[in-house]
Amino acid sequence: MIKYTIYVVDDEETITQSIKMAIETDYRVLTFADAETAIDAIKKDPPDLVLLDIGLPGISGVEALGEIKNQYPDMLVIMITAYEDIETVISCMKSGAYDYVIKPLHMDGLEVTIRNALDTIKLRKEVQALQEKFLKENLPCFIGESNAIHDVMEFIDMVAKSPDTPILLIGETGTGKELIAGAIHYRSPNFRGPLTTVNCAAIPKDLIESELFGYEKGAFSGAGVAGKKGLIEESANGTLFLDEVGDLSLEAQAKLLRFLEAGEFYRLGGTKKLHIKTRVVSATNKEINEMIDQALFRKDLYFRLGVISVQIPSLNERREDIMPLARHFLTEFDRKFNKKFTGISPEAENRLMNYHWTGNVRELKNMIERGVLTGKGAELTLQDLGLEAMSVGGGRELALENTPFPPIPQEGIDLTTVEKALEKFYIEEAFRMAKGNESKAAKLLNINHHTYRYRRKKLQTG
Ligand SMILES: Nc1ncnc2c1ncn2[C@@H]1O[C@H](COP(=O)(O)OP(=O)(O)OP(=O)(O)O)[C@@H](O)[C@H]1O
Ligand SMILES: [Mg+2]
Repeated sequence: MIKYTIYVVDDEETITQSIKMAIETDYRVLTFADAETAIDAIKKDPPDLVLLDIGLPGISGVEALGEIKNQYPDMLVIMITAYEDIETVISCMKSGAYDYVIKPLHMDGLEVTIRNALDTIKLRKEVQALQEKFLKENLPCFIGESNAIHDVMEFIDMVAKSPDTPILLIGETGTGKELIAGAIHYRSPNFRGPLTTVNCAAIPKDLIESELFGYEKGAFSGAGVAGKKGLIEESANGTLFLDEVGDLSLEAQAKLLRFLEAGEFYRLGGTKKLHIKTRVVSATNKEINEMIDQALFRKDLYFRLGVISVQIPSLNERREDIMPLARHFLTEFDRKFNKKFTGISPEAENRLMNYHWTGNVRELKNMIERGVLTGKGAELTLQDLGLEAMSVGGGRELALENTPFPPIPQEGIDLTTVEKALEKFYIEEAFRMAKGNESKAAKLLNINHHTYRYRRKKLQTG
């Protein structure tokens, strides 16, 4: 069994020696006569627990406590004090000391205090391990076997480790940017903190600043009486994911840049400077360079957001991922819709492999969802996928008028789910046909642009 390490810091040798003698059979004990040497040793070989005298020569025990807690917030420190120092003890407890013992020391009492402290460490470690296990087991699956996606994930793994470097994800719609933003968060040291997602395109332009930076009461008409934290504050010590960052107004861009450069900002109508540590991950499927040329996006902000920028390859550039993804989605929707699919027919597989994916993984996922929902199994066929009317790799127009809807099976269908799947299909199909232009996509569906945008976001988020 590994022994816990305890450092005993006291200038009275009789005290350090008697503590050592009392506990060294159970623990690894190192003694120090002053705080400077002890702090040096802590940096080289951090112990589990420190017993720290308050009245030390040189750096006092109180100062040493401050330094230890500053560098190792989780380290347990028990203060050793003479009875008359009780005022100082209270201030030490406020600065994060775990407990205190009073001289002359009673070894039995000291041993109980040490054992309690070490139990606390053990519990903390168990809770942390459980938290980590829970997070890992509940992370969404990221599927990909191509070299291109392996390279991306390897790079993400590496850059995720530095907890405040901004990362910009660039890639076509549906390539998995949001999923990757989540992966960055959960692989970073900030993973216990919040992951706050802001969809810059979905928040009206005149609200984005108050959403991001928060406001004080009376900052603007309708600001409410209480004031409100912004999303940057919500993301403190975690990750702020700015999705579709190209849609930020120029005013919000200026403020965001100031925040990124200095790590500080004011709430709207506020006078108190707020300091927040968070990692900013942003994503865009737009050509930001073109936006910079048109003075719609600040170049300085673009550089700041993209200290690290990662290009996510399109699905057409990593065809090895198509079938693993398709099988993954087949299993997912088979379970969800309570079907009995066992695989994908060879013709369907061939067509999927040769298809030109403009909506990337999202398009594939939607296609499989619709196929599983409407198909009867056991194999997912060309008909189920709505691909039978297409020439391989060529025209992608679905001849829907000639695609009969599947008959209603014995056990019936759930019309609401079918309607939702159809809506999703057409919303994405219009998006694809309009090459990502939402106004044109809305026209194709004969609905208003705002309705289109709202419905698309709603379908994507859940
Ligand atoms: N490698 C992958 N493994 C599993 N699922 C994936 C993968 N990539 C994407 N997806 C799924 O595809 C859908 C689209 O992904 P996501 O929302 O992350 O794309 P995006 O790049 O943010 O798109 P947009 O630019 O339109 O916002 C999501 O449902 C996501 O879970
Ligand atoms: Mg996205």
